[in-house]
Amino acid sequence: MKKNILITGGAGFIGSHVVRLFVKKYPEYMIVNLDKLTYAGNLANLKDIEDQPNYRFVKADIVDADAIFKIFEEWKFDGVIHLAAESHVDRSIANPMEFVMTNVIGTVNLLNAARNTWKDNMEGKLFYHISTDEVYGSLSNEGYFVEDTSYDPHSPYSASKASSDHFVRAFNDTFGIPALVSNCSNNYGSYQFPEKLIPLFINNIRNNKSLPVYGKGENVRDWLWVEDHARAIDVIFHQGKAGETYNIGGHNEWTNIDLIKLMCKILDKKLGREVGTSEQLISYVKDRAGHDVRYAIDSSKLQRELGWNPSLQFEEGLEKTIDWYLDNETWMYNITSGDYQTYYEAQYTKR
Ligand code: NAD
Ligand code: DAU
Repeated sequence: MKKNILITGGAGFIGSHVVRLFVKKYPEYMIVNLDKLTYAGNLANLKDIEDQPNYRFVKADIVDADAIFKIFEEWKFDGVIHLAAESHVDRSIANPMEFVMTNVIGTVNLLNAARNTWKDNMEGKLFYHISTDEVYGSLSNEGYFVEDTSYDPHSPYSASKASSDHFVRAFNDTFGIPALVSNCSNNYGSYQFPEKLIPLFINNIRNNKSLPVYGKGENVRDWLWVEDHARAIDVIFHQGKAGETYNIGGHNEWTNIDLIKLMCKILDKKLGREVGTSEQLISYVKDRAGHDVRYAIDSSKLQRELGWNPSLQFEEGLEKTIDWYLDNETWMYNITSGDYQTYYEAQYTKR
């Protein structure tokens, strides 16, 4: 069936994988990627599909309500997959307001535009909001986050995501907008901005730079391969029920320090270094303020009801990911030098 689908934040890490999957898998859909191109947005992430006939890029800020209304008027979207966000916890500690603007106000602007566009007929429409396990707070050694775990966010980032999740559910309940939310654990894979643990540390190890481990490195994260998240988003978008929440996770818990030591070991081998060389780069630094101890997702509802399962074992996925960053030195160089920010102008303003 022909559909116009809006994907927000498609130039970011997860969004670029979702855009690529949808453009390739659904030639009958027109995929509109709306992105402000903040520091985290990089159109080079989509180079391989940018000329496809069922793909368009629109540069816009979701905080700008007028612009968002006009874009909805023009495209009359049938579905929205909303990923655009400020996504880095450390930046939210430095500047919380940016997170309120994009993650809360931006989400409400999109909901208002969808409500206005769909007011006469909600049939077949869907607003799908991509959220995080961080809204549930922090676990001790035991237990898992399930879909009805109470919200208990600790960072300005997770508080802003929690707020946006509530707005999505409120628009579903109050205005009948068909909407759903999924909450996912930590993603890893290609095209992740090198401020997040895995790409930052791969790049630092390669360049013999220090590895700043927060606190004692004992915090636990549940890692999921980004392409498995994109597949889950596809399944939920097409088969999920409006009004529902789905948790997505890898059942793959690692303390930060064990993960970092594993990366050091793999990279020693790949870079031809003596075993133990890269571990010497580890430096324990002041802990992140409000640092959540452990995240762990129970994704059995998604597995049971919609048949989704993670496809990759972590060791395989991590090795693939390390290879990708080693093979894509220019991508990394363009980010660390800032050159990627000129790509939009070179590529789009002359068309
Ligand atoms: P990212 O930071 O890599 O990408 C965010 C994208 O949003 C960028 O392309 C950026 O330019 C765009 N953007 C930011 N502000 C915007 C605005 N005001 N208007 C339009 N576009 C804007 O983020 P990511 O890691 O790919 O995360 C994507 C989504 O998934 C986020 O909503 C995040 O909360 C959620 N999530 C991320 C993870 C993870 O591990 N990375 C896990 C669970 C959920
Ligand atoms: O759980 C899902 C979330 O995962 C997403 O919602 C966020 O958008 C995403 O950024 C991620 O949040 P984290 O804070 O868990 O990811 P980050 O890569 O920043 O950090 C992972 C762990 O590593 C965390 O315990 C902090 C630690 N860390 C991170 C960095 C950048 C360090 O010890 N040193 C570092 O330099």
